[in-house]
Amino acid sequence: MSHHLFDLSDRIAMVSGAASGMGRQMAIGFAEAGANVVLADLNLEGVEVTAHEIEAMGRRALPIKCDVSDVAHVRALYESIDNEFRRVDVVGNVAGEGHMGRPEELPVETLQEVLNNLVVGRFISCQEAGRRMIEQGKGSIINFGSIGGWNSLGRGHTPYGMAMAAGIQMSRELSTEWASRGVRVNAILPAQVWNQGLKDRVAAVPELEDTFLGGIPMGRLGEPEEIKGPAIFLASDASSFVTGAILPMDGGNLALNAGGTYPGSPRMYA
Ligand SMILES: NC(=O)c1ccc[n+]([C@@H]2O[C@H](COP(=O)([O-])OP(=O)(O)OC[C@H]3O[C@@H](n4cnc5c(N)ncnc54)[C@H](O)[C@@H]3O)[C@@H](O)[C@H]2O)c1
Repeated sequence: MSHHLFDLSDRIAMVSGAASGMGRQMAIGFAEAGANVVLADLNLEGVEVTAHEIEAMGRRALPIKCDVSDVAHVRALYESIDNEFRRVDVVGNVAGEGHMGRPEELPVETLQEVLNNLVVGRFISCQEAGRRMIEQGKGSIINFGSIGGWNSLGRGHTPYGMAMAAGIQMSRELSTEWASRGVRVNAILPAQVWNQGLKDRVAAVPELEDTFLGGIPMGRLGEPEEIKGPAIFLASDASSFVTGAILPMDGGNLALNAGGTYPGSPRMYA
C-alpha cells in the first residue's frame, strides 16, 4: 500500500510531451497516484492514446494539441484547463527539442528556435501555471532539464545545453520568487533515457551506446517509466519542503562528473 503523502487524488496535473516517452509515463504515473491529467503534445493522436489509458483507470484526461514553442498555444492550453477544471495543481514541462550540429556552423535562426522552444515556451508555461497556483496558494511545477544543462556533453548539443542550463536557472529563480506563496518549482535532469530518437541514433552508430554507457556508472540507459517515482515525489506533498531542487535522474552520471565522454560521439561529425 502506498503512503498517503504520495497521493494525488483529485489534483489536476498538466504534462507536456505526453504522447510518448517520459512525458507519457509521467502523465500515467500521476493518474496512477490519483490525478486527473491534461495531456499536451504536438502529436494529438498520441495524447489521445495516453488519454484512453488514463480514462480506463477511472481518471479524467484532456488531450490537447499544443506546440510548446508557440506562446499563443501555451496560453490557450491554460485557458482550456481553466474551462475544463478551473485549477491546476501540478505541471510537468517535459516537451522540447534540441538541434545537433557543429557550433561553429550553427545558424543563429536555429539557436533562436531551440531557445524559443526550450526556454521561452517553458517560461510561459511556468508563468501561466504560477499565476494560477499563487492564487490557489499551492502548486508544484516540474521542469525537465538534462545532464547536458549541467555539464558539457561535447556531442554537437551546444544550443540544447545552453537552453537546458537556462531552464535549470529559471527553476531556481522561480522557486525563490514563489516559495513563500505556496508554489514549488523543481527540475529533473535525466541522462540518456531510451526513446525512439535514441534507438534510431544507436541503430545508425552502434558505438554510440558504449559512449553513453561510459558516462553512466549504473551501466545502463534509463527507461521512460523510471520518471514516475521522481515525478510523483516532486508533484506530491511528499516533497512539501522541497523547492529549487535540481534532481539528477542519471544512473550516477553527474556524481561521476561525466557529462559527455571526450571526444564526443563516435562519427558524430563524419
Ligand atoms: N531521452 C533522453 O535521453 C533525455 C535526456 C535528457 C533530457 N531529455 C528531455 O526530456 C524530454 C522528453 O524526452 P523523451 O525521451 O521522453 O522524448 P520523446 O521523443 O519520447 O517524447 C517527446 C514528446 O514531446 C513532443 N514534442 C516535441 N516537441 C514538441 C513541441 N514543440 N510541443 C509539444 N510537444 C512536443 C513529441 O511529440 C513527443 O511526444 C525532452 O525535452 C528531452 O529533451 C531527454
